[in-house]
Amino acid sequence: MGILFLENIHQIAQEYLERQGYRVEVLSGALGPDELAKALEPVHILGVRSKTTVSTEALARAKNLLAIGCFCIGTDQVDLEAAQHMGVPVFNAPFSNTRSVAELTMAEVVMLSRKASQRSLELHSGLWQKSAKGCFEVRGKTLGIVGYGNIGPQVGLLAEAFGMSVLFYDINRKLPLGTARATTTLNELLEQSDFVTMHVPDTEATRGMIGNSELRSMRVGSYLLNLSRGSVVDLDALSVSLKDGHLAGAAIDVFPSEPESNGARFNSCLLGLQNVILTPHIGGSTEEAQRNIGVEVSESILGFIERGSTAGAVNFPEVDLPFNTESHRVLNIHRNVPGVLGQINRLVSDSGANITGQVLSTNREIGYMIMDVSPELSRSIKEEIDQLDANIRTRLLF
Ligand code: NAI
Repeated sequence: MGILFLENIHQIAQEYLERQGYRVEVLSGALGPDELAKALEPVHILGVRSKTTVSTEALARAKNLLAIGCFCIGTDQVDLEAAQHMGVPVFNAPFSNTRSVAELTMAEVVMLSRKASQRSLELHSGLWQKSAKGCFEVRGKTLGIVGYGNIGPQVGLLAEAFGMSVLFYDINRKLPLGTARATTTLNELLEQSDFVTMHVPDTEATRGMIGNSELRSMRVGSYLLNLSRGSVVDLDALSVSLKDGHLAGAAIDVFPSEPESNGARFNSCLLGLQNVILTPHIGGSTEEAQRNIGVEVSESILGFIERGSTAGAVNFPEVDLPFNTESHRVLNIHRNVPGVLGQINRLVSDSGANITGQVLSTNREIGYMIMDVSPELSRSIKEEIDQLDANIRTRLLF
């Protein structure tokens, strides 16, 4: 099994797979399109981070490729549709850095409330400005969390440990953790919170979700934090609210447009504003998150190699089935056209093989089936499924 890791993927990922008996080839940098296409020819498993573009052209040369691990959050760098059509699931680790975001959020809540970043800038410039004016404890204040998915509840629990009251607003019904209370509308949350923190995804409904009228609904002297996506907050409107004193401060980690690489110039209408903490999209960037990503994606890759599990794949129907060691396992990926499952089942039943376990899941384009069958007939069944028109790829595990 050829496993190739690019872009300095955390060493823990390599160690994890090598402990299971696999050899991993590691390259420190990203590869350009031609180099990648060439390197992929013998590779079964590819590991990348965000700087390697895995295009249709590169995939076309990757005849042996079984799966791709994106050791990061996003998967935009991979042509997911082309991978799907080739029967190649793509795995990532979307939730490995949620704690890191929650911790930074709470740290910023305290920093804002104490005007600490302002005091720090003054002191760095040689100016001593000791003052309690406008500085408050966060204990007893209300934190409003918009988006109560993976990160939101963790922020809520940390905030409660600081003695804050927690409100949240989510479009879906969520079980509150701790003593957090759901509001029925966004406005209700905005009107009742001393701090509002955004933890929603980038969707049509969340783009520009916090604009002028939402900012005006917030309490005078309150704070806004956005560590979610740059599209969610209208920064021009925020800048006006900060300048006219409606808001007392803000912490922004994500921007509508972010530089591609370190060392690049950055510009924003928030530059130079008092009591605004700006961070370069580092909410989830910790060593722990990198380690978690390494382990999580390696586990998914191993689950796919050894059991055929596609749990957590971003471009594939998710299927998992405990391995029955007395059977052989047929993994079949097919185009989702009417009658395929019937054809496969007929073929197995005609062969006289016993199916000891079977699970199928489909999306609009493809179907993925795991089927455990009697060992003596597994090879011939695989060969016959390989002949079906709708077959994309069939693999045998034993
Ligand atoms: P998630 O998908 O687990 O949770 C998002 C929640 O928002 C869900 O409960 C969903 O129902 C809710 N939601 C969706 N649309 C909504 C709307 N219109 N109004 C109210 N609620 C809505 O996401 P997770 O993992 O909690 O991440 C939250 C955000 O943080 C994402 O945008 C993610 O990209 C971002 N993020 C930022 C990082 C950073 O470095 N700053 C690192 C990790 C995540």
